[in-house]
Amino acid sequence: MQTLGFPASRRVLAPTNALKIAAALSGAFMAGWLVLHVVGNLSAFGGPTRMDGYAAALRRVAPALWLARIGLFAAATVHVVATISLARRARAARPMRAVRRFSANSLSSRLGIVVGPLLLIFAGYHLLHMTFGVLHPAFDPGHVYANLVAGLSSPAIALVYIGASALVGVHLYRGLSSAGASLGVARVTNARARAVAAVAAVLLAAAFASIPVAILVGVLR
Ligand code: HEM
Repeated sequence: MQTLGFPASRRVLAPTNALKIAAALSGAFMAGWLVLHVVGNLSAFGGPTRMDGYAAALRRVAPALWLARIGLFAAATVHVVATISLARRARAARPMRAVRRFSANSLSSRLGIVVGPLLLIFAGYHLLHMTFGVLHPAFDPGHVYANLVAGLSSPAIALVYIGASALVGVHLYRGLSSAGASLGVARVTNARARAVAAVAAVLLAAAFASIPVAILVGVLR
């Protein structure tokens, strides 16, 4: 049966594709922001003057910073809404338990269902910890380096940050592997696209984790 000239299958797929594109574009925006964030974090290896100077320079371009923050908040909202809608659609399309259990994509989907919310919880904690200082033992506004070192000097908190870095890597790998297909850049089955996704994810996770690790072992103090 056809309505408005579209076969039934295409009418069902069209919104799903729009959701996939929304999830991929919002995810790409956040991934780009994470790359900038990790570059800023790595300035810690240049010492307090370098890192605090970088943070102060960012604050001097306040309108651009606020634009990026608003963009980040909007991207996070779109990403959560789109991915939840996609998960619901996928579930509704597979009503039989047996089919669900043996679905080829089930492991990576299940990981995504756990990792995404965990990252959201981490982001909330992280803002209260490093940006607003509410959950920080010795927060000193403007002294980003000192806040970073004092904030991660507890091994338990450093481990939380190392865990979050690993989750970012897992999430980015999954996102990059499927975003390429959603945006028509690469096929999910393309081994080279998966290899590029894996390298990018490991590099980003290692760069994020390097800060808490360096504080744990006393390289940054
Ligand atoms: C694991 C290593 C990480 C470290 C050491 C770290 C460190 C920091 C620091 C020091 C700040 C405050 C910057 C400032 O006041 O200028 C900050 C802000 C922020 N971080 Fe992280 N971060 C890490 C990972 C992450 C991850 C994985 C995310 C996202 C899931 C994230 C999201 C944010 C956000 C949204 C802000 C607020 C930016 C702003 O509005 O100015 N961070 N981070």
